[in-house]
Amino acid sequence: MTASRSATVDEFLEALLGKDEALASALARSESENLPAIAVSALQGRLLTLITQIAGARRVLEIGTLGGYSTICLARGMRSDGVLVTLELDPHHARVARANIAAANPGAHVDVIEGPALDALVEMIETGSAPFDVVFIDANKDQYPQYLEAVLQLTRAGSVIVMDNVVRQGAIADDESTDANVIGVLVALKAIAGNQRLFATVIQTVGSKGHDGFALVRVMT
Ligand SMILES: C[S@@+](CC[C@H](N)C(=O)[O-])C[C@H]1O[C@@H](n2cnc3c(N)ncnc32)[C@H](O)[C@@H]1O
Repeated sequence: MTASRSATVDEFLEALLGKDEALASALARSESENLPAIAVSALQGRLLTLITQIAGARRVLEIGTLGGYSTICLARGMRSDGVLVTLELDPHHARVARANIAAANPGAHVDVIEGPALDALVEMIETGSAPFDVVFIDANKDQYPQYLEAVLQLTRAGSVIVMDNVVRQGAIADDESTDANVIGVLVALKAIAGNQRLFATVIQTVGSKGHDGFALVRVMT
């Protein structure tokens, strides 16, 4: 399937399942505030909502907020007494995300924490944060191995970890790649594969966001 064909199918399916005005407004605000158009697609966002719904999630961690599109999707599937912590380096992205999340009013309480994600993760580990039920990793790919290592200290048996952009237009299958993002993702995937506590798969995705994929990981013990 060509890229334009898969994007057309994405649009068709998005319309079929029902356009979402709150998410459309969040995207419009993000665009008008000059944020890059790198949020998950509408169909991918629905997958995130389904995952937090299926998990019955009360505590969700997101690494990489951007304008809060995926945050809203994750929060919508959570229990109403839930708490979502989302980590964002860029203060402007964080500001736009807070406005988008407030306007969408997704139910669960959302904390947008500004600064390098790894600093926040280390602080959560050191202060004995309660475990998260679902974690979505979607920030800078070169640090995916460190994010994974930290997240394994912030989860419990039964938690679900989702990592975005792990196929990278197919570059992930190139073991010789010198791209720091590909290397970061590959090191993280190898760590998952070699960890007896984890069970995982990778779902390749095509559509409006090109050829990429999600790693879906369950902490088993
Ligand atoms: C792909 S975007 C996130 C998209 C968002 N999850 C969505 O689907 O709506 C990645 C975000 O990670 C942020 N980021 C990059 N490096 C970071 C870091 N070291 N710590 C925290 N956030 C970071 C970027 O500023 C950007 O907003």
